[in-house]
Amino acid sequence: MERGDALYEGKAKRVYATADPKKVILHFRDDATAFNGVKKASIEDKGRINCAMTVHLLREVEAAGVKTHLIDVLNDRELLCWKVDIVPVEVVVRNAIAGSLAKRYGKPEGAWLPWPLVEYFHKSDELNDPLMTEDIAVLFGWAERRELAWMKEQSLKVNEVLRGFWSRLDIDLVDFKLEFGRLDGGLVLADEITADGSRLWEKGTGRKLDKDVFRRDLGDLSDTYRELYRRVFGHALEGT
Ligand code: TMP
Ligand code: ASP
Repeated sequence: MERGDALYEGKAKRVYATADPKKVILHFRDDATAFNGVKKASIEDKGRINCAMTVHLLREVEAAGVKTHLIDVLNDRELLCWKVDIVPVEVVVRNAIAGSLAKRYGKPEGAWLPWPLVEYFHKSDELNDPLMTEDIAVLFGWAERRELAWMKEQSLKVNEVLRGFWSRLDIDLVDFKLEFGRLDGGLVLADEITADGSRLWEKGTGRKLDKDVFRRDLGDLSDTYRELYRRVFGHALEGT
């Protein structure tokens, strides 16, 4: 599939048009940003690792009945996907207290929640993705109530699948962010599932195996992502 014009430039990915107006190419770059782009770096092999990780995890959730935008793998950095209209609502599922939840309510990080918490953030770089209630999303026309209900239900299903997946690799899934897109009158899971948008803590040690290593200057993110790749795929990333 030939790459057409760049349609959208994200902080770590680029979306290209294709000859088929219903399909796009998702290109994973090596860039990492944090704090809404304030901190930036190029992380060796991150694009390839996140591309492979997204394919693997989207297929895991598809096997559990969650529809996604993924059509095919084109190469080690590019996926062919359905062109969707992204819902400007980021769904965060949390199994433990960490990150902005800890900060907002003055709670220490690390306590496990008795059941998963679902939060909605408005997808807006200009506004720094503010937290919002369901009513705000509906009142401001960002999503319909039945769409929010669907996204919540699907996100909780994804949480079950991913928690089990990471747990089998001796990793606790603390939280993660999902985005959904409108397609043919319904919604599908879109974007990526990677350690950029998840918190992954090694069981027992609590060692962070996610983008917090970069956000908080805890070490070399490239080494962390290569280790995560080895755990998921059972071998080192080719050429490393
Ligand atoms: P938070 O604790 O900063 O709200 O983040 C919750 C989860 O969402 C965490 O796993 C990282 C992910 N996330 C993104 O994917 N994109 C973002 O812009 C932010 C702020 C968080
Ligand atoms: N995704 C945001 C950024 O790239 C925030 C974050 O992940 O910390 O700046």
